[in-house]
Amino acid sequence: MPVLKVIDRDGAEHEVPARSGLKIMETLRELDYGIAAICGGMCSCATCHVYIDEPWANKIPAPMSDETELLQELAYYKTGSRLSCQVDMTNELDGMRVTIAPDE
Ligand code: FES
Repeated sequence: MPVLKVIDRDGAEHEVPARSGLKIMETLRELDYGIAAICGGMCSCATCHVYIDEPWANKIPAPMSDETELLQELAYYKTGSRLSCQVDMTNELDGMRVTIAPDE
């Protein structure tokens, strides 16, 4: 199973198995230090906000306009910002580094 390298809000790094074919949100919301994902993946709450490191950010499909619009409203929006409910985990993303964004 591929793994994600997850950086929590305290800066600690964790290696977490992430099932291919699921949204990465579904892995992150199971973690004590993970995300809330309040809307369950409907692209409406932004509580699944993460930052994806540069080498990996180019390997995943670009965000759709509704994701981009929601991200741009966030105080902590920056380069690499994604809504983790909109990103599919794949075997090719094994080792991807994902940082949990601060609470809004
Ligand atoms: S879980 Fe709500 S926007 Fe991603």
